[in-house]
Amino acid sequence: MELFDVMIKRRSVREYGDEDISDDDLDKIIKAGLLAPSSRNRKPCELVVVRNKKTLRQLSLSKKSGSAMLEKANAAIVVVADSVKANTWIEDSSIVLTYMDLMAANLGIGSCWCQTHLRYSGDDKLSEDVVRGLLSLDDNYRIVGILSLGVMVEELDSHEVPIISDSVVKFMD
Ligand SMILES: Cc1cc2nc3c(=O)[nH]c(=O)nc-3n(C[C@H](O)[C@H](O)[C@H](O)COP(=O)(O)O)c2cc1C
Repeated sequence: MELFDVMIKRRSVREYGDEDISDDDLDKIIKAGLLAPSSRNRKPCELVVVRNKKTLRQLSLSKKSGSAMLEKANAAIVVVADSVKANTWIEDSSIVLTYMDLMAANLGIGSCWCQTHLRYSGDDKLSEDVVRGLLSLDDNYRIVGILSLGVMVEELDSHEVPIISDSVVKFMD
């Protein structure tokens, strides 16, 4: 698919079938994340791939809301960034998540960004602390989010091709 077509087709998919996504597809999604650019090429991000059902359920409880899809996901990729390596860990992690999300859409795999940074669990703990604890990570690791992945049960409507209007895009002289 052309990159523009992938962007038009990409949707946040939160319902998944029971089948496994293939190792080959998972590999491509991981490699897309590893291809993401980073400020000063510091590459602070590491990926933790979770396929274990118990851990997926625990991750789904890391937030009050907006993380339920992780329980039924076939895999989740937690993007963890060493904040000592780069103070741009938010930006760098966000690009990694976006690249992987786009590759998943390209492969027809359902995916959704689950925000961890600045969010809280049902018992009012910082979601980052909950996820860091689950993955036994040191405090210098910061977690912007998790990408949930699974076989799509229903294809969501594609986006409309955006209209370039002067309310959001200004062409300067
Ligand atoms: C920074 C960011 C955080 C997000 N966090 C969540 C989340 O925690 N849970 C969720 O279900 N979706 C989350 N999403 C997905 C958005 O809700 C979704 O992208 C938006 O509603 C537009 O829908 P679309 O992705 O299908 O175009 C997040 C997306 C972004 C970019």
